[in-house]
Amino acid sequence: MSWRNNETHYGTIAIGFHWLVAIFFLGNLGLGAYMSTLQLSDPNLFTLFQLHKSFGVCIFCVVIFRIAWRLVDTPPPLPEDMVWWERWAASLTHLGLYAVLVAMPLTGWIIVSASPFNIPTRVFDLVALPHIGFIATDPDKDQWLALGEWGHWLLAWSAGAAVFLHAAAALRHHFILKDTILRRMLPINARAKDAS
Ligand code: HEM
Ligand code: HEM
Repeated sequence: MSWRNNETHYGTIAIGFHWLVAIFFLGNLGLGAYMSTLQLSDPNLFTLFQLHKSFGVCIFCVVIFRIAWRLVDTPPPLPEDMVWWERWAASLTHLGLYAVLVAMPLTGWIIVSASPFNIPTRVFDLVALPHIGFIATDPDKDQWLALGEWGHWLLAWSAGAAVFLHAAAALRHHFILKDTILRRMLPINARAKDAS
């Protein structure tokens, strides 16, 4: 298996990015959903919020590199026998997932910048993420807060739905259509199995 994508298989870098981001994104989705059920008086709330924000910032940084890599490393083409709507659905879902990966951290950053609590974001207690200046100083920052909270919430639900469809499609390809779509995103050689 090579570092780069080829005609039949994703490369090690694309696969590494995919699963690294998938695990941390789903983890942060769960953490965000969990912490939003806690009372303001909960003693763990501050730590959980800082952890959530820290993972979110790191995911964002990795996703920027992932997208840059995606632009220079063309993915393997979809199987010839996939009909037009399946190709369209796959491309649209992938685009939507990339959009969500960028927009979730950005809306989170809007929330913390506009929050009346004005709590600093310290990424794993090592580096400070500054608030977005023009939002933090806007006299109407309540509107930014409402926009950020609404956006973050809507994106969270959309991401959940998109990931569900995406994973279900991958499993359909593997178990029902029995093609290589899932295997070519796994760190194994799809061609070796095809050849057997
Ligand atoms: C991949 C990244 C992220 C994911 C999947 C994610 C997911 C979530 C989810 C599911 C919630 C609970 C639902 C909601 O209230 O919207 C939430 C809440 C929240 N997130 Fe994120 N988030 C991410 C990144 C960030 C970042 C980077 C920040 C800040 C720098 C952030 C700040 C917050 C805040 C402040 C809340 C509480 C919102 C409220 O109480 O209304 N998130 N997040
Ligand atoms: C949970 C289980 C998951 C499975 C089984 C899965 C499976 C796959 C597979 C098989 C592909 C390759 C599709 C192809 O060959 O055209 C793929 C691509 C992709 N996946 Fe996932 N995935 C999962 C989770 C996620 C998550 C959580 C995200 C992001 C939030 C994500 C984002 C993407 C994106 C953006 C692509 C397109 C890659 C490209 O640019 O070609 N996946 N996934």
